[in-house]
Amino acid sequence: MKISICFYISVLILSGIINYSCIDKKEKFIKENTEFAAAQTHLMLEQLGEPDGKNYPRTTDEEGELVTTDMYEWTPGFFPGNLWYLYELTQEDYWRKQAEKWTESLEPLKTFTGHHDLGFMMYCSYGNASKLAPKPEYEAILVESAESLSSRYNETTQSIKSWNYRKSWNGQVECFFPVIVDNMMNLEMLFAASKISGNKKYYDIAVKHANSTIKNHLRDDFSSFHVVDYDTITGNVNIRMTSQGYSDNSTWSRGQAWIVYGFTMMYRETKDPVYLDVAVKSADYFIRNLPDDLIAPWDFNVGQEGYAAEGNSYAVQYNEKLKDASAAAIMCSALFELGKYAERKNYTEQAVNMLTELASPAYRAKLGENGNFILMHSVGSLPHKTEIDKPLVYADYYFLEALVRYKEMRENR
Ligand code: GLY
Repeated sequence: MKISICFYISVLILSGIINYSCIDKKEKFIKENTEFAAAQTHLMLEQLGEPDGKNYPRTTDEEGELVTTDMYEWTPGFFPGNLWYLYELTQEDYWRKQAEKWTESLEPLKTFTGHHDLGFMMYCSYGNASKLAPKPEYEAILVESAESLSSRYNETTQSIKSWNYRKSWNGQVECFFPVIVDNMMNLEMLFAASKISGNKKYYDIAVKHANSTIKNHLRDDFSSFHVVDYDTITGNVNIRMTSQGYSDNSTWSRGQAWIVYGFTMMYRETKDPVYLDVAVKSADYFIRNLPDDLIAPWDFNVGQEGYAAEGNSYAVQYNEKLKDASAAAIMCSALFELGKYAERKNYTEQAVNMLTELASPAYRAKLGENGNFILMHSVGSLPHKTEIDKPLVYADYYFLEALVRYKEMRENR
């Protein structure tokens, strides 16, 4: 009896020690990464000066110098989003003020209808603002932005048009209603707009678009086609192809990460188990195709038999299996959330391992280097010969989001 009580007490003490050292390790990791990201972003802010509509950080050039874009590109919302996550991680007013300033510089975009990326542009900025430091005008701006995005929805195709016009890489097909898997990410703003305004229209558009994505972008193994072009008279699919992936039949890893993240969000917003099932199966495809270091190649099928880049795509002459840290960061953040809904401990473990790898010297830059971005080694669009093995502002955004999600995770506390 005495022996078993002693044994029981020893186990309790030992597991307490182990648990404590896990907490300690986790807290140290979060603290160190937060401090680094804050210091690096300070340098970025010094370099940028005040927001002027044209200086949203995107990547670096061949000399390693910062490249910025104007606000009409698809990426201006990410830098304000990074500032919001730094505010969330540090609770320092300095970051809130910077985040407000950079977010509010994007207000003119609320009426923008030139492409589908308004969700990235306005939700990563104003969406985070609304959650972390709400103001009534932020909500009005989000609803107006959702209205602008909805103007690209077509009832016949049951989809939001991503781009206005595109040609296939072999030059043989013209697309007038191209939809890309990335578009799943713009739907979160529509759910927010329905909640704010009470107008279910935005919610319904998000659901119809997601359902079309399941029907037309996903293969039987839950890998994905990047682009689907629709006939706007019949609503039928004209062609399935790629724009940023290796070949029309390949799976572009960032696109697959958008799918996992997008359907996890769909489940959160609707509680429809169909979306959870899609998120899980597309995540499983992603995970079972990962290399040992858990950082995805830029396309899962580069150089494989049965896959061939075509025409003007730069992938025709370049088929190195480069890593894409941006795809890894998106997937990492998505897995933290999906792990909760799917009750799959292995997703959370994978997310922690991915985050640890991204934060290692293999992917995290040194202070003051890498154009003052946090992560190295992403691929923007290899077929377009742009941003190959470069930092990308959205890789940093999802890295910081993953850090926030890791911090919020209660299991280890
Ligand atoms: N269009 C978004 C991306 O490049 O992932």
